[in-house]
Amino acid sequence: MKIGDFKLEVFFNKYEFSAPYLLSQSDCESMSIKDLLSYEKDAEKQFLNCWLGYTEVAGDPELRRVIATLYTTMRQKNIIVHAGAQEPIFNFMNVLLDRGDHVICQFPIYQSLYEVANAIGCGISRWYIEQSTDGWIIDINKLEQLIQPTTKLIVLNSPNNPTGYTLKSEEIRAIAELAKKYDIYVFCDEVYKGVELDGVKRPWFADFYEKGVSLGVMSKAYGLAGLRIGWLATRDEDLIGKLAKMKHYTSICSSGPSEFLSIVALQHSQKILDRNLKIIENNLSIAQSFFNKYSDLFEFNKPMAGPVAFNKMNITMPIEKFCNAMVKEKGILLLPANIYSFPGQYFRMGFGRRNFADCLAMFESYLIEKKYT
Ligand SMILES: Cc1ncc(COP(=O)(O)O)c(C=O)c1O
Repeated sequence: MKIGDFKLEVFFNKYEFSAPYLLSQSDCESMSIKDLLSYEKDAEKQFLNCWLGYTEVAGDPELRRVIATLYTTMRQKNIIVHAGAQEPIFNFMNVLLDRGDHVICQFPIYQSLYEVANAIGCGISRWYIEQSTDGWIIDINKLEQLIQPTTKLIVLNSPNNPTGYTLKSEEIRAIAELAKKYDIYVFCDEVYKGVELDGVKRPWFADFYEKGVSLGVMSKAYGLAGLRIGWLATRDEDLIGKLAKMKHYTSICSSGPSEFLSIVALQHSQKILDRNLKIIENNLSIAQSFFNKYSDLFEFNKPMAGPVAFNKMNITMPIEKFCNAMVKEKGILLLPANIYSFPGQYFRMGFGRRNFADCLAMFESYLIEKKYT
């Protein structure tokens, strides 16, 4: 398979571990293994006794059981564990899709969610999240208009990276009904689920539709990207079997120590999510004051859920040129819209890290130095 460069990952690879002021990260503040183990009595001793052999292809049975409790209709057999969220995206697309299939993908979105299908030889239509005066909106009628006789899959990302747009329960229901009417699979990347800023817990897509597949991960809302543990949940057991056969060719099985640590984290899920939600809320209020102060220079699109927002900067210089110059000169990292192949002067900002205020202060100094303010 020939596949195009992953623009976001190429950009991050260049700067993520050298730029000191990361203002656009999509994962929440992480923690040490010691801190995570301290959530559960005796967990440290158990962790040291973790066996380092191969594990079950579908994932540790206890981990799958705990993951299934996040859903209303899933059981252990409906879950398959993978390496992070990237492996299950790749494997799912390769299992489901053939050259010539048509795929509708929400847009803007994380690139692998359409690029893998593109590399397989599928036709891709973009269903845009649109900017309105009230923030980002979607139009489900427009989604229906994109459906073709060969449409096999609708790809969603909710909460969305980069806009923070999050499907409401009635929208999840409406999309599930539409997909059922045309007998189309729905893949819903829900990796940012768990840090809802409006306090409303949305259902997982897979609970609504028998051909719905939900993607979850430890990397984002939990801030545990180093575990490289993600999963797919679906009522389609035949699909789970095919995904296991595909995993034989990718990672075979997941890391045993990471599976153990994921169980600990999920057993204390609410405490970890509350910790991260507090960080995001605190950073968003700092960001709100900043954007109020510079309201002529920026349009702030507050996210509905998740740690990222896609804001606009009113300057004449192309945003990618601005971001590239800033990271090279001062090591302040923002992600420009061209990385998402999205038009306009948008940039992604991330609110999940504890040093957000310091990074924002550096950004403000840069704006003052360059006379943008
Ligand atoms: C929407 C979305 N899906 C999947 C991923 C990949 O996640 P992971 O790093 O856990 O593989 C990302 C990472 O940024 C993402 O934003």
